Amino acid sequence: MTQVMSAALVGIEGHPVEVEVRISAQLPRIDIVGLPETSVRESAARVRAAIAASGVRFPQSRVTVNLAPASLPKSGAALDLAIAIGILNASGALEPGVTERVAFLGELALDGRLRPVRGLLSMALAAKQAGCSTVIAPHDSAPQAALAQGIQVIGAPSLQSVLEHLHGVTSLPAVESAPRTNNRQTLPCLSDVRGQAQAKRGLLIAAAGGHGILLTGPPGAGKTMLAQRLPGLLPPLSDQEVLEATQIHAAAGLLGEPEQAIDRRPFRAPHHSASAAGMLGGGQPLRPGEVSLAHTGVLFLDEFPEFDRRVRESLRPVLEQRFIALARVGRRCRLPADFLLVCATNPCPCGWFGFPQQDCRCDQRSIERYRQRLSGPLLDRIDLHLTVPAQSWSEINSGAKGRSSQQQAQIVQRARKLQLNRGQACNARIQGQALDQHGVPGSEALRLLGRAVDQFGLSARAAQRVLRVARTIADLQEDETISAPAIAEALTYRFERTRSPAV
Ligand SMILES: Nc1ncnc2c1ncn2[C@@H]1O[C@H](COP(=O)(O)OP(=O)(O)OP(=O)(O)O)[C@@H](O)[C@H]1O
Ligand SMILES: [Mg+2]
Ligand SMILES: [Zn+2]
Repeated sequence: MTQVMSAALVGIEGHPVEVEVRISAQLPRIDIVGLPETSVRESAARVRAAIAASGVRFPQSRVTVNLAPASLPKSGAALDLAIAIGILNASGALEPGVTERVAFLGELALDGRLRPVRGLLSMALAAKQAGCSTVIAPHDSAPQAALAQGIQVIGAPSLQSVLEHLHGVTSLPAVESAPRTNNRQTLPCLSDVRGQAQAKRGLLIAAAGGHGILLTGPPGAGKTMLAQRLPGLLPPLSDQEVLEATQIHAAAGLLGEPEQAIDRRPFRAPHHSASAAGMLGGGQPLRPGEVSLAHTGVLFLDEFPEFDRRVRESLRPVLEQRFIALARVGRRCRLPADFLLVCATNPCPCGWFGFPQQDCRCDQRSIERYRQRLSGPLLDRIDLHLTVPAQSWSEINSGAKGRSSQQQAQIVQRARKLQLNRGQACNARIQGQALDQHGVPGSEALRLLGRAVDQFGLSARAAQRVLRVARTIADLQEDETISAPAIAEALTYRFERTRSPAV
């Protein structure tokens, strides 16, 4: 019996799989055991054809392939290459020892070519953890696996090339991971947006403190334009974030040539017809949803009230936990889902309620119904409510450009550093004790907040939100204490929504 290493993808995580092959002198047939799903069973046919196409004789005896551990659900065709190598190894077609500490990953075409597989990076990480020093993977997606670091990655075009490599006939080169570009120049710039000074200020605060945003404004005012510019204000991804975001996109099958790694903050803008499964993830095999694809970046929900109620409500726990737990036969998968949420909405169905440029054509009841979909627990957790008014023609043509995204990003970086120095990820997440310790306003600021709480009947939670935003405003100014103007500004973002459309 021989053993060859491979890996399987469950959710976005890779798990090591041992492919054990036994060849016995019985009637020729091939059995694959170890909880194979349909695609794994189909693998027998592909492996047989690919071996024949590589000019090697398929053993004329009984071949039993066991995929261990049996309890692990295996799907996809990534095990093909390991099964083929295992069979050739067991039949004596390979030199002893050449498969030691090597993991084999990839789908085989009938003619022996290697096809890319989903989730290669996660599987390479699993192989590394299982003690492998080399992974042999399909040439086209090999650079993605190289992000794993600390394991040699060999890209191979076909089964035949793998055999020649193992025999030392020709040697396939090791693949380097693509260099990080972090190219901001290709992102849309904030200075494309003319005017909208207040909304731009809101974006800066959101980026600096990690706060969620609600944009309210009439059609064509620039809400989408503004939201698209948020990723460019955020700090560059850390190595760990690149790894996580790439694992998620790779598991969703969204990476390929020329892009092999996610090295820029994702911007996801699902349509309002998106299903709960599309948003949260699910299916068989399990695919990451929009909340996970937006991990480390921005999730933009345009026309938020048009989203299905279940979808809107399902987002709240995700926002709080910053991951999503999905049940899968016999296993629970946990996918990261830590994103900046930006929701956009019109003030009413026609879009013009409360804005002077056009008359609102909606009746009172339809406005109320529309706005009801906006209220509720999710929006309560969005710190910044910003108004995006329609700009005049002259403003759009010659209005102020303001700072570029690059300039704003530097200010964001400084503010983020202050938060890190205090031992926090970002202000949007400070709670309880940390907020008591770092969110202390000056005495005048405290009086102002007290008056607002009494006058507007703010809940304790609402008051904490104001404090968190004010903390970020103070960090942007590099102030240690929260001043009264910072509280006053934070309060305007709290009331923006109710003030503009309703009053
Ligand atoms: N402040 C602005 N500066 C420059 N161009 C603008 C501005 N506002 C809007 N535009 C132009 O108008 C177009 C429409 O803007 P955008 O799609 O962002 O509006 P919106 O608020 O998302 O509208 P809707 O409610 O219909 O989704 C943009 O592509 C841009 O060309
Ligand atoms: Mg829009
Ligand atoms: Zn209207």
